[in-house]
Amino acid sequence: MYQYVIHGGKPLVGEVAISGAKNAAVAILPAALLVNGVCRIENVPQISDVTLVLEILQELGADVRSVNSNTVEICCSHIHNFRVPDSLSRRMRASYYFIGSLLSRFGKAEVSMPGGCDLGVRPIDLHIKGFRALGAQVNVQGGFVYATAPGGKLTGATVYMDQVSVGATMNVMMAAVLADGLTVIENAAKEPHVVDLANFLNSMGADIMGAGTDVIKIRGVEKLRGGTYSIIPDQIEAGTYMAAVASAGGNVLIRNVIPKHLDCITAKLAEMGVQVEEEGDCVRVMRTGKLHRTNIKTMPYPGFPTDMQAQMSAVLCTAEGTSTIDEGIWDNRFRYVDEFKRMGARIQVSGKLAVIEGVPYLTGAPLRACDLRAGAAMVIAGLAAHGTTTIECIHYIERGYENLVGKLKGIGADIELVDAKEPVSLRDSQVG
Ligand code: UD1
Repeated sequence: MYQYVIHGGKPLVGEVAISGAKNAAVAILPAALLVNGVCRIENVPQISDVTLVLEILQELGADVRSVNSNTVEICCSHIHNFRVPDSLSRRMRASYYFIGSLLSRFGKAEVSMPGGCDLGVRPIDLHIKGFRALGAQVNVQGGFVYATAPGGKLTGATVYMDQVSVGATMNVMMAAVLADGLTVIENAAKEPHVVDLANFLNSMGADIMGAGTDVIKIRGVEKLRGGTYSIIPDQIEAGTYMAAVASAGGNVLIRNVIPKHLDCITAKLAEMGVQVEEEGDCVRVMRTGKLHRTNIKTMPYPGFPTDMQAQMSAVLCTAEGTSTIDEGIWDNRFRYVDEFKRMGARIQVSGKLAVIEGVPYLTGAPLRACDLRAGAAMVIAGLAAHGTTTIECIHYIERGYENLVGKLKGIGADIELVDAKEPVSLRDSQVG
């Protein structure tokens, strides 16, 4: 089993380029099922969740060709299977997008209930409610979602989301693209990847208006045609490197970002005494002085993203004073706290609120990642800590970060991917 070994305490300096957005890619790739012809998709991140989505497409009968490490061509003319097996679906949350895309294009989907990070209860009732509003018959039986469109086609309708849901918004958008008539999604999610999916579908001939606002209108079209599309940069990957520089200190130019998507993260880092400067499609992050306390509440976009909560918590562990983090989306997103406590962090969790009392420094420790973003947060904590941190269960982290070790080494981090069977060097392993 591989693990990361981090010798912390070195400031980060240099440049790092951000990859394509995971949460856009895992929706856009299944959306290729809606297209007649070849979709060429660029800026696809090389992460294990993407590998899995491509495996599912191949299982369904799609032709998938890698043009280069970040570009794929997908042709879905020979789909012969409408069932996504448990062995694949359970390994990721985004497998739910195959329900919307298969149902829309072929009028039929059988998808095992999705897996993904354990962040608390993760129902898909809003997705199902949306499909039913468009006329689908949906049954959940034996761990599978069975959905059919009577007569093979869905019918446009108004879908009100009881709660802002990224996945349900995107899934209903996919289902509606080839439906008869107009679909209106009210109380829609506004995340950058919602807009990116709409832009992808529109570039292939769909008629979607309002993505990025809370009312999205989708007029069904006969069919979509092939084309080329480039995925947006990953907001959360960029935010993770910003948090890493804030935590370890240094001066890093983060390239290939959309600074607007980072506004909420930039604002919080500024409050904490971190300098963030926009330079075209880059942001420069600098931190030399002390970190100040702050309060964070996670919310749907444009609020502070829940997927940055754990990384900011890592930074706040060594900020002066007492900070709070209020998790507004998920019920159980503080499971990483016990690992931080092993490093000397002072954090109290009560329900969805964490109170962090800053300490002068963290101490390296053996850690175990418990989900994707929590794992990234442990890397951040390890980079700033005195001594050596080892992180096990890195498969979680590899789900969402392309070449994390290579990119961090490129900005001066002392991090290695090590086969745990080999003895881990304990140099600097005690408090420095
Ligand atoms: C997506 C992201 C995830 C991120 C989350 C919130 C992907 C693959 N994952 O997850 O990284 O943390 O958005 O930004 O893009 N809910 C329901 N019923 C539903 C669906 C959701 O009650 O049918 C609730 C959830 O329990 C949660 C809230 O709505 O409390 C938001 O969930 P949602 O936005 O749907 O998250 P995901 O799309 O699963």
